[in-house]
Amino acid sequence: MQIGPGHRVTLSAVKLLNLDHVAIAVRDLDRALDEYRRRYGIEPMYREVVEDQGVEEAMLAVGGSFIQLLEPLDADTPVGRFLERRGEGMHHVAFAVVDIDAALAHLKAEGARLVDETPRTGGRGTRIAFVHPKGGNQTLVELVELPT
Ligand code: CO
Repeated sequence: MQIGPGHRVTLSAVKLLNLDHVAIAVRDLDRALDEYRRRYGIEPMYREVVEDQGVEEAMLAVGGSFIQLLEPLDADTPVGRFLERRGEGMHHVAFAVVDIDAALAHLKAEGARLVDETPRTGGRGTRIAFVHPKGGNQTLVELVELPT
């Protein structure tokens, strides 16, 4: 598949491997984790501060995917502004890909509006990039390349 001048990408490079996670913005991570523990009997597998995104995140394993709970580090962050505007709730869905650079090049060639033109560092040592909800069914999509 030809996706740009001299840029070739194989279909397998942009293939979505699985639903990596569904992210939910929360005001109080400890409280949210306590609710998941009591209601669904699950504990976080990872919990870490991701400075680059201005969040503390916790990952709860559900089958082969995760629920990602996001608490903003302060109000002036993307998730902080989301909470202010919309309140708690679903923030984005994330798909795992083999090659995030190839996937971004493909999306760009497809005319998708990218929040991140180049990948950033996510939790768990991943490389991530966001695709804008406009023109994407009003759903913020995150691509995740897992560390090899
Ligand atoms: Co995410």
